[in-house]
Amino acid sequence: MQQFDIRPEEPDDWWEVEALYDLCFAPGREALSSYRLRDDVPPVAELSLVARDGQGILAGAIRFWPVHVGAHDALLLGPVAVHPTHQGEGLGGYLIQQGVEAGRDIGWDRVMLVGDAPYYARFGFNPLTGVEMPPPTNPDRVLGLELTPGVWSGIQGFVTRWTG
Ligand SMILES: CC(C)(COP(=O)(O)OP(=O)(O)OC[C@H]1O[C@@H](n2cnc3c(N)ncnc32)[C@H](O)[C@@H]1OP(=O)(O)O)[C@@H](O)C(=O)NCCC(=O)NCCS
Repeated sequence: MQQFDIRPEEPDDWWEVEALYDLCFAPGREALSSYRLRDDVPPVAELSLVARDGQGILAGAIRFWPVHVGAHDALLLGPVAVHPTHQGEGLGGYLIQQGVEAGRDIGWDRVMLVGDAPYYARFGFNPLTGVEMPPPTNPDRVLGLELTPGVWSGIQGFVTRWTG
């Protein structure tokens, strides 16, 4: 990833990142149930990353939110997006791995997301059975990653908005 300058997202990056997400996701992305878990909750600042190319143009971004799963805490990965001109260069995978590792470093041990299992399997994400996102969510797309072995075992319940 030498061709990209990767840094924590700053407040001034916010709307540029939103524009990248608008470009990369289908219209109406904010109607997705995962956004209800983000309403009025700030992302985890240390884990949100922006990647810029040699001209300073935003090439990729990732954010993470805290959530509750039943009585437990987890990181909700996403949105993650890479500008179409840079997709397939490994940047998305790099941002996911860096963000997850940074999450581990600050003490998180459980990560989840709603996404395509064939893509996220390569990072160690597996389907979470019994973990229910707000509807409508395809349960097959609810995936989890253990940063400490066994931390998702037996965890069931609703994913709810972070209350601290
Ligand atoms: C998904 C995304 C972040 C991946 O970023 P990227 O930098 O292109 O990904 P990488 O270069 O790290 O990895 C590319 C590989 O992932 C695969 N891939 C990308 N999206 C995939 C998907 N939805 N399902 C399965 N495989 C996928 C590519 O085919 C490629 O496979 P290969 O390594 O066998 O060639 C990017 O394509 C993107 O922004 N897409 C639009 C927004 C989006 O869908 N975000 C994720 C929401 S779940």
